[in-house]
Order: sequence, then C-alpha cells, then structure tokens
Amino acid sequence: MEGAISKPPYTRRIAVVTGGNKGIGLEVCRQLASDGVTVVLTARDEKRGADAVEKLKALGLCDILFHQLEITDSSSIAALADFLKTRFGRLDILVNNAAVSGVEHVQEVDTNEEKFNGMDLNQRLEWVLKNIRDTVDGAKKSIQTNYYGTKHVIDTLLPLLQSSNGGRIANVTSAYGLLRVSFFLPPLVMESQIPVDQYYHIQGIFFYAQRINNEEIRQELDDIENLTEERLDELLGKFLKDFEADALEMHGWPVGLAAYKVAKAAMNAYSRILARRNRALRINCVHPGYVKTDMSMSSGVLTPEEGARSVVNVALLPDGGPTGAYFAMGQEASFV
Ligand SMILES: NC(=O)c1ccc[n+]([C@@H]2O[C@H](COP(=O)([O-])OP(=O)(O)OC[C@H]3O[C@@H](n4cnc5c(N)ncnc54)[C@H](OP(=O)(O)O)[C@@H]3O)[C@@H](O)[C@H]2O)c1
Repeated sequence: MEGAISKPPYTRRIAVVTGGNKGIGLEVCRQLASDGVTVVLTARDEKRGADAVEKLKALGLCDILFHQLEITDSSSIAALADFLKTRFGRLDILVNNAAVSGVEHVQEVDTNEEKFNGMDLNQRLEWVLKNIRDTVDGAKKSIQTNYYGTKHVIDTLLPLLQSSNGGRIANVTSAYGLLRVSFFLPPLVMESQIPVDQYYHIQGIFFYAQRINNEEIRQELDDIENLTEERLDELLGKFLKDFEADALEMHGWPVGLAAYKVAKAAMNAYSRILARRNRALRINCVHPGYVKTDMSMSSGVLTPEEGARSVVNVALLPDGGPTGAYFAMGQEASFV
C-alpha cells in the first residue's frame, strides 16, 4: 500500500520499522515520525498495519506509509526492498523490532493488568514463568523469526542502507540475549553469599534468570573476529537438536524461554559481525527494558513509549557514533 510521498531525490530520512503495528514497534514509528523521519511502518498483516497507520495519522503524523512485511517470507522482504528502491532509492534507518516469544501460554491470558499492581519485578517474572511453557515448535519459530527472519531482512535491505549517507540499523534485542550466565545479581545474593543458582531456585525464577551456561559457546559468540555466519548456523542447529532431544541443560543451553534467549544472542553476534564489515553504517543492538506489551503479557514495568524511546535514541545516534554496540536503559553496555 503506498502513500503520497514524492520521488527521489528525497531529503527527509527514511526509516523502516518491522512489526510496527503494535507494542514497542508502533511507538517507535510514532516517535520517529514525530522526530521528522518518514516512516515505512511494516506489519505482516495488511489490516493490522493499515489500522496502525490510520491511528498515527489521526495524531497528525502524516509522513507515515504502510508496507506489508512478513519477516520469514523472502518474497515479502523482496517486495519491500523493490518498493523502497523505486520510491526512495535508499534507506536511512532500519529498526528490526518484529519478534515472537516462541512460548505457549498455559492458560487463556487474563489481560487485566491490575493483577500486577503491587508486584515487584521478580514477582512479575515469576507470574510469567508460571504461565508459559517452551515447546519444540515454538523454539523453531523463535529461531526462524527472531534470528533468520531478522537476518534476511538486514541482508536484503543492506544495499539500500549502503546507498544512504548515514545508514543505521537498530536491532531490538533483549537482556536475555547477553553473554552473562544470569539475568541480574540481587544485592541479597552478594551480601549473603548464597550461591547464585541456589538463590534463583529458592526464588523460583531460576529458569528465567539463566542464560547460556556453556562457557565455550559464550566465548564463541563473543569472539567476533573469528565467528562466522556458518558457525552461527551450526550452533543454532545444535541448539534445536538438543532441544528436541531434551538435552538443553546437559549442554549448557538456557532453559525457559530458551530459543528466545539463544536467537537474541545469535542476533547480537551477527550485528557485531556486520558492524565490523560495514564501517560506514552504524549497526547497534538495543534492549528496550521490561515493557508492558502482548509479548510480556502486559507484565512489564515500562510503558511502550518508554521502551521505544531507548530504541529511537539508538536509531538516531549521531554520525560517527558507536557501532557494533549494545545499549540498555539509554546507556551503552557490555554484551558479556
Ligand atoms: N516487551 C518486552 O518486555 C521486551 C523486552 C525485551 C525485548 N523486547 C523486544 O522488543 C521487540 C518488540 O516486542 P513487543 O514487546 O512490542 O512485542 P509485541 O507487542 O508482541 O509485538 C511484536 C511485533 O512483531 C510482529 N511480528 C511477529 N512475528 C512477525 C513476523 N514473522 N513478521 C513480521 N512481524 C512479526 C508482531 O506482529 P503481529 O501483531 O502480526 O503478531 C508485532 O507487530 C521484540 O524484538 C522483543 O523481543 C521486548
């Protein structure tokens, strides 16, 4: 679906946002458009995408158009690339936001957010943990969407980003994809010296907290000078094989939201590889925080507006800014 936007040469910056119809993606579109960027809001479902564009237009934001994009469908990605090439001849900003959790809900999700009132972050995570379960099909979908889908979008749109004077990619990642063993180290553990794993078991949030436990794999994913795309494929293949064989824990993979964590870790690694190869672009990863959206079953502590602000700040980093970096809570941070 096309809007009334002029042909090249086109002076405003042009951004594509994947999964722009709701949640953090929709807010990223709103904020980018408010900052004077022409936004191509994409969504896999035509109606959901067109409705989202209408919603933003009703706020007075006119420089927004819709294009269908299913990130696991190569013909859909190619159609978007053709559209951008014909209409603008380049792309300035790509925000890879679309993702799935890859888990099943154990019961009908109660959308009433009030149940979270008075719950701290741990209690919210515990509630989520009790209400989801990993499945083999979900794990495959998560790897296919969150890693391969995103990678395919980047690879196809890269020539258009290279045609920009200041091409940027912001990959929306998660703290779950970091190469640290656990999510966070509560002060209680440090003060009491209770072993970390034991603490998380006591708290019932161990599965949530745990990331990739296998040190060799963590080191490989961090060894960006030597890591290859082929090796990433092998590692993801091994992960899925171990998942099907019920051997995740034995081989040091995460347990609980396992594929989501592994896909985000792989995407972080791919972003870093790409950033090294494309020095003229700014390619970064950004964790939006724990946000109230459908993905978090509305359990998050931040609004989509707050989560999206972190993403937009990274998408609009100034020329010469960091590349191959990770940002969380508005700050550059370490992947490990
Ligand atoms: N919420 C959090 O606390 C949190 C924390 C850390 C990171 N993140 C990351 O933030 C990003 C946005 O998540 P969110 O919380 O806003 O989730 P959300 O509300 O569930 O939105 C996800 C978006 O991705 C789209 N999508 C999923 N699969 C797709 C596909 N194959 N092709 C195209 N679009 C697809 C969805 O489209 P449909 O509407 O058609 O399903 C939707 O627009 C994700 O990358 C997520 O991993 C979120």
